[in-house]
Amino acid sequence: MSGLVYFSSGSGNTQRFVEKLGLPATRLPIRASAAPLTLEAPFVLICPTYSDGEGRGAVPKQVIALLNRPEARSLLRGVIGAGNRNFGAQFALAGSVIARKCRVPLLYKFELAGTQTDIIRIRDGLDLFWGRAKATA
Ligand SMILES: Cc1cc2nc3c(=O)[nH]c(=O)nc-3n(C[C@H](O)[C@H](O)[C@H](O)COP(=O)(O)O)c2cc1C
Repeated sequence: MSGLVYFSSGSGNTQRFVEKLGLPATRLPIRASAAPLTLEAPFVLICPTYSDGEGRGAVPKQVIALLNRPEARSLLRGVIGAGNRNFGAQFALAGSVIARKCRVPLLYKFELAGTQTDIIRIRDGLDLFWGRAKATA
């Protein structure tokens, strides 16, 4: 099964988004001391942005730790970035940074816990994406 992996901090916006999405998804541990996730299937990563306002540090350290593990990184197929439009040009920057560094497509960007339109678009988009991914596997 291809799935979703996401990070969400204590503010829980991404967690609420994933609950609304209603698809199987695995949350990355917030605490660095927690046991690392064991991933066995290709996944799309949903990642909120935490920059210093100038673009530095956009990708949460828990996500960096995941993507620094070669066996986890090799299963990454795409990324969805999250953020807050108040950050202007840095909106959902973590998604773009991960897409560039890991050479995977940036599939979508959404704000905070997403709108109903975001939910519909992402559900439809992921169906198409995984259908195509299977066809080209
Ligand atoms: C310290 C801090 C820095 C942030 N930096 C950015 C940013 O550079 N770009 C952006 O789009 N959103 C930024 N955000 C907004 C978060 O990405 C947004 O609130 C997101 O929904 C948090 O998800 P979470 O509650 O699941 O952790 C920042 C929020 C905080 C608290």
